[in-house]
Amino acid sequence: MKSLNESATLHNGVKMPRLGLGVWRVKDGEEVIQSVKTALEVGYRHIDTAAIYKNEEGVGQAIKESGVPREELFITTKVWNADQGYDTTLKAFETSLQKLGLDYVDLYLIHWPVKGKYKETYKALEKIYKDGRARAIGVSNFQIHHLEDLMTDCEIKPMVNQVEYHPRLTQKELHAFCKQHGIQLEAWSPLMQGKLLNEPVLVEIGNKYGKTPAQVILRWDLQNEVVTIPKSITPARIKENANIFDFTLTADEMAAIDTLNKNERIGPDPDNFNF
Ligand SMILES: NC(=O)c1ccc[n+]([C@@H]2O[C@H](COP(=O)([O-])OP(=O)(O)OC[C@H]3O[C@@H](n4cnc5c(N)ncnc54)[C@H](OP(=O)(O)O)[C@@H]3O)[C@@H](O)[C@H]2O)c1
Repeated sequence: MKSLNESATLHNGVKMPRLGLGVWRVKDGEEVIQSVKTALEVGYRHIDTAAIYKNEEGVGQAIKESGVPREELFITTKVWNADQGYDTTLKAFETSLQKLGLDYVDLYLIHWPVKGKYKETYKALEKIYKDGRARAIGVSNFQIHHLEDLMTDCEIKPMVNQVEYHPRLTQKELHAFCKQHGIQLEAWSPLMQGKLLNEPVLVEIGNKYGKTPAQVILRWDLQNEVVTIPKSITPARIKENANIFDFTLTADEMAAIDTLNKNERIGPDPDNFNF
């Protein structure tokens, strides 16, 4: 599927595929190897993992077994909260690279904005970036105030902010802020972990195009210029989620999906988490 190469251009010029495969809660070993290999066969070129997912080894093995040239891939991983701090982040990064079997990643993110730690952590990301070991760096679960705080003294503006984003949580203000600062927004739990798939508005729009509610949501992400990383271990769904480049939602349909917003989170609140 050629359009799986469709990419967003980050503020440093690096191209990030607009659709990727998420692998949170995918077991290391066969489960992650099979899902990543299926995705790569279908044509995905972007995989989203994290140290805390404990499946970087399997992701790395799938990459190796797939035979897809490294330069075609976009691999993201993230530093976990317990490893935040300058030296500890540099060390955690080495461990992630080793597990992935790679000598660089495409995107390295701070997983959560740990109070009193994320600025120091970000300095380590800047070093990793300057050393050419991550082609892009960024953050995850940062609210506007975290970004403002970070940008008061960072050298390199984050290129990406990966946050919870789906039709029940449309993050309009955060998205506008990121756009204004050239920070690419990326959606985690884009399908709200499967909880939105019987929503009548999405079913009705899907029927018009012969698409499923999941495909309608992912198309809405693309048209909103949000990079999206649905997770699936089911080959048919991995294919289904990629088949979103041959239809276009109208402005009215986009607006109808926006009305589903309830500022409702399925995951933790970035201003109030304790892990
Ligand atoms: N930065 C962060 O803090 C953070 C937090 C959460 C997630 N993430 C990232 O975002 C990725 C996606 O989020 P997520 O895993 O929470 O949830 P999600 O992608 O919204 O939903 C995944 C769930 O939906 C099901 N599914 C997938 N495609 C489907 C389809 N076409 N039809 C019906 N069901 C479908 C999957 O089932 P099967 O697998 O059984 O097919 C799975 O149960 C994660 O894997 C991770 O990489 C990041």
